[in-house]
Parts: sequence; structure tokens; C-alpha cells
Amino acid sequence: MPAMLLDQLGRPLRDLRISVTDRCNLRCTYCMPAEVFGPDYAFLPRAELLSFEEIERLARVFVGLGAEKLRITGGEPTLRRDLPELLARLAAFPGVQDLAMTTNGLLLPRLAADLKAAGLQRVTISLDSLDPQVFGEMNGLGVSPQKVLGGIEAALHAGLGVKINTVVKRGVNDEHLTELWRGLREFGPVRFIEFMDVGNHNGWNMDSVLPSGEVLARLAAEGGPLTPVAPAQRGEVAARYRDAAGHELGLISSVTAPFCGDCTRARLSAVGVLYTCLFASRGFDLRAPLRAGASDDELRGQISALWGGRRDRYSEERGELTAARPKVEMSHIGG
Ligand code: GTP
Ligand code: 5AD
Ligand code: SF4
Ligand code: SF4
Repeated sequence: MPAMLLDQLGRPLRDLRISVTDRCNLRCTYCMPAEVFGPDYAFLPRAELLSFEEIERLARVFVGLGAEKLRITGGEPTLRRDLPELLARLAAFPGVQDLAMTTNGLLLPRLAADLKAAGLQRVTISLDSLDPQVFGEMNGLGVSPQKVLGGIEAALHAGLGVKINTVVKRGVNDEHLTELWRGLREFGPVRFIEFMDVGNHNGWNMDSVLPSGEVLARLAAEGGPLTPVAPAQRGEVAARYRDAAGHELGLISSVTAPFCGDCTRARLSAVGVLYTCLFASRGFDLRAPLRAGASDDELRGQISALWGGRRDRYSEERGELTAARPKVEMSHIGG
């Protein structure tokens, strides 16, 4: 066992989130608003992206430093060509307990079986509303919820574990949350995420946040009693509840109940920049040393030094002072 690597606040490195592309086939208003990410937007050129060999090499170093959960993100990760090949490489690591992916689900009917066969264990699929009008507006492209439901079914059919993520915006999709919970809870845990001030373009303000406490009160009032579930491990982002039939609900409350104290997540962008917080203003280029021929020991030394110096706790500090900071785009680190 490697000696445990801790940051300045005593938090170990346990999770590595790996973004494989900055592109997406949706334009969610809270993540990649169409006005900003339009036809002329300059996405990363392919040569800039880490190759699968490079991702594998870095991921192996992170696993050696304690990461035991790997999650593939984007943009939309399924847009990356030959994605199952990457999953197969990562699934072969000893020491990885959890191999997951966050996706909008649209391409899963085509890909789910291959991803599962390659070693992917579970997916988290984003779906913000079952109302076609509301979802179409939130995803920026008029895509219907049926398309995502098709992805959820494909994932379940392939034998992947499924969780659902719903971003809640007050006055936008908060009216029919109980219908959404009733409609989706059969498929797997449904997690309601408070709208967050990620990136620099989503027009965030506190008025658009519906506090999780209110989500819970509404769901309990309209959908029956919900009982809290004890956390299974340190660092869980969702506070969990169950209904009388055992369906699981999660509340991710980065705004009203920050969870930085237990944050064990490192994020690697598609170009190989390491971010130690979802709201970081800057990251650390690992691709340069990698491409300059650094050894595994040298990479390990750099990552250890970066994690060892980590003090991030943005959500706990959120306020007037943090509002002015530039932030990494969500499409570069996938949430
Ligand atoms: P599980 O292992 O399935 O619980 O995964 P997860 O909850 O880490 O993954 P997922 O991508 O589904 O995370 C859910 C959402 O919670 C993310 O998309 C973000 O919106 C939010 N989130 C996850 N990690 C963090 C974090 O470190 N900080 C903040 N502020 N939000 C986070
Ligand atoms: N606030 C909260 N959640 C967000 N996500 C993307 N942008 C935001 C935001 N501004 C969620 C997506 C997806 C995950 C990657 O992060 O819906 O579930
Ligand atoms: Fe794409 Fe996900 Fe961002 Fe929506 S939240 S624009 S699906 S990356
Ligand atoms: Fe971790 Fe930063 Fe999120 Fe806090 S705000 S939980 S430090 S990623």
C-alpha cells in the first residue's frame, strides 16, 4: 500500500474524474449556453487531447497515489471516438473499485453494450425534466426527454448501474419535480442538484437556486414520506433518502450545504490539466511533462506536490469575494 497522500486540509485523493472531450451534443443553459457555445465556438483540436495511452499512463499514477474511483466525463464523453477502448484499459488496473461515467445518455442506445463489455460498471445520466417543452429549453436544442429515456433503458438493458442527475433551477424546472421523481425512481437513484455557479457563462444567481431543503419538503409533501439513509462512505456528495418502497433519492447541495470538508476529487481535463476543484481558476499542466518524457516517478512527484498543497474549498467560501474569480468551464472538467 502506498503511504496515504493528504492535502493541506487532511483530505486524501480518492477519486479521479477524467474528461475525454470538451464537446457536447446538447447546450444546457446552465453548462454550455448556446449563445456562448455557438457554431463559431473554438473547441479543442484533436491533437491537443490526451491520447488513450496518455490518459492510461496518468490514471495509473493517480491510482498509485490512492485514487480508487475513476469517472469518465466530458463535455459529453460518448462523443469521443473508440471510447470502449479507453474503458478497457482503465478496467484492467488493479486497485480500481469503481469505474463510472457521467453522460447525457443520448448515444447509449448505440454504445451501452460495448461500454459494459469493456468494463464500465455504471453511468450517471442527466435528465432535468420529463416535460418536452421544459427539457427542450433547458438542453438548448429542443431534444426530447424520450431520447434520454431511450439511453437509460439501453444502459439498464446492458447491465450497467444507473443513477439520474437532475439540475434544479427555480422557475424553470421546479414545478414538476414530483412527477419526475415518480417517473424515474424505478430506474435507479434520482439526485437533485442545486444549480451551481460553475464556469463563467451560465448567469448564475442565488434567486435561481431552489435549496435542496425545499426540494425535499415538496417531494415529501406530494410523494409520500422520505427517510434519511446513512452515508455509505466518507466524501459522498449526495445526502440520500428512501421512499416507502425503497427507491433512493439524493440531494446534492453544493450551494446550501457545501461538502468541501470531505472532497477527495481530482479532475483531469481532456488536455491533461489537473484541477483540484470544480471551481478552480487555474489548473496544472500534466501533459507538458508527459510529452517531454517524464518518468512515472517524476509524474508521481508532481501530482503529490500539487495534491499536498491543495487548500480548495470554494463552495464553503462562496460569496462576494469568490464571485469575481474566473473559473474553469464545466465542459472542460465534466462536473
Ligand atoms: P457517485 O459516486 O455516483 O455518487 O458519483 P458523483 O456524485 O461523484 O458523480 P456525479 O458526476 O454524478 O456528481 C454529481 C454532481 O454533483 C456533479 O455532476 C456535480 O454537479 C456535483 N459534484 C460532484 N462533485 C462535486 C464537487 O466536488 N464539488 C461540487 N461543488 N459539486 C460536485
Ligand atoms: N449546476 C449544477 N449542476 C450542473 N451540471 C452541469 N452544470 C451544472 C450547474 N451549473 C451537472 C449536469 C450533469 C453533471 C455533469 O453536472 O447536469 O449531471
Ligand atoms: Fe452537455 Fe452535460 Fe453540459 Fe448538458 S450538462 S451541455 S449534456 S456536458
Ligand atoms: Fe471539492 Fe471544490 Fe466542490 Fe468544495 S467546491 S467540494 S473543494 S470541488
